[in-house]
Amino acid sequence: MNRKPIEPATKERGTPATERTSERIVERIVELSVDGQKVSVPEGATILDACKALAIDTPTLCWAENLTPVNVCRVCVVELEGARTLVPSCSRKCEPGMVVKTDSPRVRTSRKLVLELLSSSVDLSTTPCLDKWHAHYGADPARFGPAAAPAHAGEREHAHPGHHDTPDGAHAARVAQPPKLDNELFVRDYAKCVLCYKCVEACGTDAQNTFAIAIAGRGFEARVATELDLPLTDSACVFCGNCIGVCPTGALVFKREFDLRAAGEWDEARQTLTTTVCPYCGVGCALTLHVQANQIVKVTSPLDSSVTEGHLCIKGRFGWQYAGEKTKRSEG
Ligand code: SF4
Ligand code: SF4
Ligand code: FES
Repeated sequence: MNRKPIEPATKERGTPATERTSERIVERIVELSVDGQKVSVPEGATILDACKALAIDTPTLCWAENLTPVNVCRVCVVELEGARTLVPSCSRKCEPGMVVKTDSPRVRTSRKLVLELLSSSVDLSTTPCLDKWHAHYGADPARFGPAAAPAHAGEREHAHPGHHDTPDGAHAARVAQPPKLDNELFVRDYAKCVLCYKCVEACGTDAQNTFAIAIAGRGFEARVATELDLPLTDSACVFCGNCIGVCPTGALVFKREFDLRAAGEWDEARQTLTTTVCPYCGVGCALTLHVQANQIVKVTSPLDSSVTEGHLCIKGRFGWQYAGEKTKRSEG
């Protein structure tokens, strides 16, 4: 996987260098142009890295700093001079002399359509930045018609594997379905799933190497599934929660957050974030505690922690209820 840290790129950073001496390795620099601006980035940087160096806001869904790019959402595409198709900026490596456009009519149309197709079929109400992207690209998901009825619990798991039903043309197909509540730690609300593969990557070779989940089905029936669609508690899942940590839409969510949202009490403006060290073992994982009303409501880990790279085990991710119990007892 691509875990080589990309140092911040600089504009006009001088002469490319390839020198390797016994004392030090001199970084090779690649120069390219993005939206008419020259930018220099370290060899291996992506077009997305170059965009970030120029403060060009680029929508992403399936990309994450701590995962291997899988290029499935295509919301980050850019126009590359000389290329027949638009290219995903999150994975395309910069090459010398590239001429990139990030806001051309082709790029805007493509991003708009991706956003419309996703928003018409998936509940993106808890996806950060969505309103901003919709406004910027003029996305109108409602143009595909009124939403189709939601599926019943378990219906999508048994929906004609490999067969594509002809749409009725009057409704926008949706992946709406009831959330899966099969354990006390986290909820899988696949009505919010954009099939970005991030959870599968985090559960597999990019972090956990447990392989409890995979993409099953094809086309519109594709979904994240456990083996034989078993409940998580009967699957290979070890409840590390690394899938929750990377999910971009809130489809995977801490049970406590799910309950607070359902009660209308989830309020990030009232939450404090404190980064500390996990108390359980000697590894020293960094934990960021999200606290609301004196209760830990979820735990994440900083992406720039060299120990965790944002990933945790079940103890760090979920083993904090005792702190809440202690607070409740001392308040009582
Ligand atoms: S909690 Fe961990 S083991 Fe379970 S599905 Fe998520 S990433 Fe895989
Ligand atoms: S559950 Fe979340 S992380 Fe997994 S594929 Fe769906 S949107 Fe992506
Ligand atoms: S973020 Fe680049 S393809 Fe998804």
